[in-house]
Amino acid sequence: MVVLFGATGYTGRRTAEAMVRRGLRPVLAGRSAGRLTSLAQRLGALGFGKLDVVTADISDATSVRALIGRGDVLVSTVGPFIRLGGAALSAAVDAGAIYLDSTGEPPFIRRVFEEFGPRAQQTGACLITAFGHDYVPGNLAGALALGSSDSAVHRVEIGYLIEGTGRSQVISRGTFASIVGLLTEQSFTWRAGIQSEPTGSRMRTFSVGGRNCPALTIGSTEHYSLPRLAGPPGLPEVDVYLGSCGPAARALQLSARVTPALLALPGARSAVRTIGEFVAHWIAEEPDPLALARVTSHVVGIAYDAAGTTLAQVRLRSGDPYQLTADLLAWGAQRAAEHGVSAPGALGPVEAFGLEALETGALQAGLCRV
Ligand SMILES: NC(=O)c1ccc[n+]([C@@H]2O[C@H](COP(=O)([O-])OP(=O)(O)OC[C@H]3O[C@@H](n4cnc5c(N)ncnc54)[C@H](OP(=O)(O)O)[C@@H]3O)[C@@H](O)[C@H]2O)c1
Repeated sequence: MVVLFGATGYTGRRTAEAMVRRGLRPVLAGRSAGRLTSLAQRLGALGFGKLDVVTADISDATSVRALIGRGDVLVSTVGPFIRLGGAALSAAVDAGAIYLDSTGEPPFIRRVFEEFGPRAQQTGACLITAFGHDYVPGNLAGALALGSSDSAVHRVEIGYLIEGTGRSQVISRGTFASIVGLLTEQSFTWRAGIQSEPTGSRMRTFSVGGRNCPALTIGSTEHYSLPRLAGPPGLPEVDVYLGSCGPAARALQLSARVTPALLALPGARSAVRTIGEFVAHWIAEEPDPLALARVTSHVVGIAYDAAGTTLAQVRLRSGDPYQLTADLLAWGAQRAAEHGVSAPGALGPVEAFGLEALETGALQAGLCRV
């Protein structure tokens, strides 16, 4: 059984549609019976038959635990994950279920790997976090770059570069809320082990189509899974960057310089949270669909030797990041339900499904190699 928790949200609705288009019949779960029923009716009217709905609220852990049993697949799009994500994760671990989510939040990813992963190994659960635009493409590009390097790889750098954002709203209100929650949180990188550091501790530019696109470091799943994929003698350094090739590039450069100083001021962190929550009320629930259709996401994975020489470089490209997220979650849920996953515990996407299957799934989801 596949259960989609958060089905009534923006990402959840798109994921539900992607699932039924693949022939899945997910149970639609959320806190509002009315919203779930109208979603089921809308999908039914498209000709996908009648879907079951079930209510569960994260404030009632028993209701979330009741969604799944051993071997079921739970897909969660209930976010912001650092505030709302723990209930689904705990339920999946306790049930021994296969869990996928749409988070992109570094502190939550860290909890999945360090706190819940060891528990999942004991219960037989498998946790595949951040299985969307963030951070499947970088895991794939990094694994492919590692696999095509003849000499020992010392460092892998991943770049996510967003192009075509313009001035229209291209993120959902839910994503905005998640980003606001992250501004005051610690992130991490990999230096022969996970090391805490603020988001944006390092900056570099990536060349995309002849343009230099600035990007800042961020914590993600590649830091956990690429060193394990590299195997002995180990992968000493992994850095993941998130950047922009559009008008946001200058703002990104500026924020990298001023944000750390601003956040160090007394009271600044709680002020940022309060302002962010206030601004969220003015953000539309859904991004502008026409603007979103113009967005292109470029992902680069580069493997270097110890002297800093490039050994291999892999480039991937996709369109609308929300469609990619919905299609990846739908593919992952179906693959997990029909073929299972490689092992229990917290796994990266390549570890969970294998490189060949993931590459095929990512291609079906619209992520192509360039
Ligand atoms: N990593 C990526 O590439 C990527 C891509 C897309 C989205 N995301 C992330 O996915 C998350 C969801 O985004 P979104 O745009 O779908 O946000 P959204 O529209 O706000 O959806 C949030 C969902 O959480 C549900 N929810 C909230 N409180 C709940 C509670 N107490 N119990 C049960 N369910 C509850 C909401 O239910 P109601 O409908 O009843 O309010 C809704 O279904 C965000 O964290 C976003 O950043 C990441």
